[in-house]
Amino acid sequence: MKAIAVRPGTPNSVHLAELKKPTVAEIPDGRGVLIRVLKVGVDATDREINDALYGNAPPGYDFLVIGHECFGIVEEVGAAVRKVKPGDYVTCTVRRPGTSIYDRIGRSDITSEEEYYERGINLRHGYLTEYFVDDEEFVVRMPVGLKHLHVLAEPMSCAAKAVEQAFLAQKRLQVWEPKRAWVTGAGQIGLLSTLILRLRGMQVFTLARGRKPCLKSEIAEGFGSTYISTAEMTMSELAKAHGKPDLIIEATGSSAIAFEAMEILGHNGCIVWTSITGGQRKVEVPSDRVNLNWVLGNKLLVGSVNANFRHFEAGIADLALGEVTWPGVIQKILTTPVKGLDNYREMMRLLVEDRDALKVFVDVAEG
Ligand code: BGC
Ligand code: ZN
Repeated sequence: MKAIAVRPGTPNSVHLAELKKPTVAEIPDGRGVLIRVLKVGVDATDREINDALYGNAPPGYDFLVIGHECFGIVEEVGAAVRKVKPGDYVTCTVRRPGTSIYDRIGRSDITSEEEYYERGINLRHGYLTEYFVDDEEFVVRMPVGLKHLHVLAEPMSCAAKAVEQAFLAQKRLQVWEPKRAWVTGAGQIGLLSTLILRLRGMQVFTLARGRKPCLKSEIAEGFGSTYISTAEMTMSELAKAHGKPDLIIEATGSSAIAFEAMEILGHNGCIVWTSITGGQRKVEVPSDRVNLNWVLGNKLLVGSVNANFRHFEAGIADLALGEVTWPGVIQKILTTPVKGLDNYREMMRLLVEDRDALKVFVDVAEG
């Protein structure tokens, strides 16, 4: 069967590879789930893997099948599988356990090991193929009523974890009732974080470069957030006009903005950094001022990556709530379909060049 792959270490090596169709028997103890792939989303991670910035092939291979945002249908299950059955729509988590204590308690998303295993990203093949098999532990059921939001389950799980991390960490304050949140960046993580914070009843400002009206402003405002173009208003002007935020979810992909956001956060506030910045950029920061304000304001910075099974479930529940609260808004993120695995060059071209594409995804099969 066909798969879209790269040769890690070789820039722009995206190509079509050939894989053997997997079987449920490959997973021990009857726990295998065979999934027919319907759709796979791609994001900046896939682009940077194709740029050879990171990513490694699984042991024994010189290529890595990419794609970590999957949506599929269960084709066959092993004898011990209880969670899903043939015909169920599913998605799948990305990270696979190593050996640390966190991996052993089902929290590979917070592994303490430097090396991590991620399907489609590092040391494990991804989902841009026709079928894959996995342990039922990593398979997440998608309600049929959310079929039209398909590949958003994975980015939503990362947004759900980011917001959850803030609330868990802020238990240090005994009481934390965030009223005002900023989301910096209006890519998929920024918009989905906006949705989650609006569902929690916060006043949300979503900040991005583009001037409104644009699709990003339409979606953010569709969730009841206020969209701010940073081309028209700086962060400090916004803070002066509306007050400093209690919470910032940073999702711009720019480390410079991640640091700039630290100057804006209100007392007792929390910033969650979610961007993976593969480059080597350096910026100057007003370190005395930030240090002073952070100490005097008891502020907190949390990094958040990946998501485990529970965050997928929480994210899917919020997709359902978001869909009934603001019908039809979430699906506007799904801008740019590509038909079939054969069109892998077009997929990469859109990912690199199409500035209007909020979400590129491959329609692998009908179902
Ligand atoms: C994925 C995460 C992953 C991270 C780091 C993101 O694009 O969505 O699941 O943990 O990249 O590799
Ligand atoms: Zn991703």
